[in-house]
Amino acid sequence: MKDMARVADVPRNEILRGDSIEVMAGLPEASVDLIFADPPYNLQLRGDLHRPDNSRVDAVDDAWDRFDSFAAYDAFTRAWLAEARRVLKPDGAIWTIGSYHNVFRLGAALQDTGFWILNDVVWRKSNPMPNFRGRRFTNAHETLIWATREEGARYTFNYEALKALNDGVQMRSDWVIPLCTGHERLKDANGDKAHPTQKPEALLHRVLVGCTNPGDVVLDPFFGTGTTGAVARMLGRDYIGIERDEDYIALAERRLAEVRPYDRAALEVSASKRAAPRVPFGQLVERGMLRPGEVLTSVNGKAAKVRADGTLVADGVNGSIHQVGAALEGAPSCNGWTYWCFRREGRSVPIDVLRQQLARRWRSGRAEPPFSSPPSRYVLVKGRRARWSVFW
Ligand SMILES: C[S@@+](CC[C@H](N)C(=O)[O-])C[C@H]1O[C@@H](n2cnc3c(N)ncnc32)[C@H](O)[C@@H]1O
Repeated sequence: MKDMARVADVPRNEILRGDSIEVMAGLPEASVDLIFADPPYNLQLRGDLHRPDNSRVDAVDDAWDRFDSFAAYDAFTRAWLAEARRVLKPDGAIWTIGSYHNVFRLGAALQDTGFWILNDVVWRKSNPMPNFRGRRFTNAHETLIWATREEGARYTFNYEALKALNDGVQMRSDWVIPLCTGHERLKDANGDKAHPTQKPEALLHRVLVGCTNPGDVVLDPFFGTGTTGAVARMLGRDYIGIERDEDYIALAERRLAEVRPYDRAALEVSASKRAAPRVPFGQLVERGMLRPGEVLTSVNGKAAKVRADGTLVADGVNGSIHQVGAALEGAPSCNGWTYWCFRREGRSVPIDVLRQQLARRWRSGRAEPPFSSPPSRYVLVKGRRARWSVFW
């Protein structure tokens, strides 16, 4: 951990001690990929809250959550958001979280500071605390706001990964996740909650899998027990935490020391089709992954030869992998990537495997893609114009 004055480079995997506005002011501009901020709620609690059995509710009444007025809270919010926006990369994004006490002020301040809101997400608590007085609804949710640095900015959204997390169905903006309890909840020496607002790791897991990639830098300016850092570390992301309370810093340091990152293979998430680099078949030939003259076969025994220009030839038909497959099957269309196989070491392997290998190399930066979006391709199949780019 460092005492922050000014840091020349962005410090990774450290807790920076101090006031978040001052510490962020010392961080370089455009240096972090994502900010997850769980700021003070400004709960304005008046007096103790008791359960029906008269036991005292451990509510958020800490000094860090107290502000003299809404105006003071707004000034604080706008100041930290301005610094957050400065340190965010142009393609970066921010997630903030709050309750009805502060989230509307937070949303307005985000927009006034220049951020562009993409979604709000309702975190519905499956195990909320009841409203003990029975005078209002059970307060069973908090609201997250996801925003880019400005309107039109690019941002990371691992659509397919989130869909996979949601059993193959598009992820919605209402997330049902329990409050942090049980062994995940950090306790103090008396066995009481060590921090009143420790967030569940599941919430951070979803945010980080959905909106960051391994190696990204995630900043949490209100680090508390270090939930953001712990999940970032598990997922192979780097974190920067800012916290000014010495007890919480010690707690987070102990917690982070015990985190074991998942192995690299487990961190690969399903790529969004839009984000996946497109691989023209000719690239496999140019790069020697398939040789001109090599014979490709289909599962039902059809055969075609690879030509040097990345087309196939078979029985007097020649054209793209998709065209030749469709012509041989007498079908209006055919996905050549899954239709054709090549032989290696006595085994028949779909050419899609080579496409995926190349796409992985491009994604990891080990090789340059030839272009990022496919040219529009229209071909004649049985006298009809069909669009092929869907199979890229
Ligand atoms: C809502 S809690 C964050 C809890 C955290 N997300 C977790 O899971 O443990 C807010 C935290 O911000 C810290 N904090 C409040 N104001 C701060 C400031 N101006 N600078 C740095 N830390 C601050 C508090 O000490 C508190 O731990």
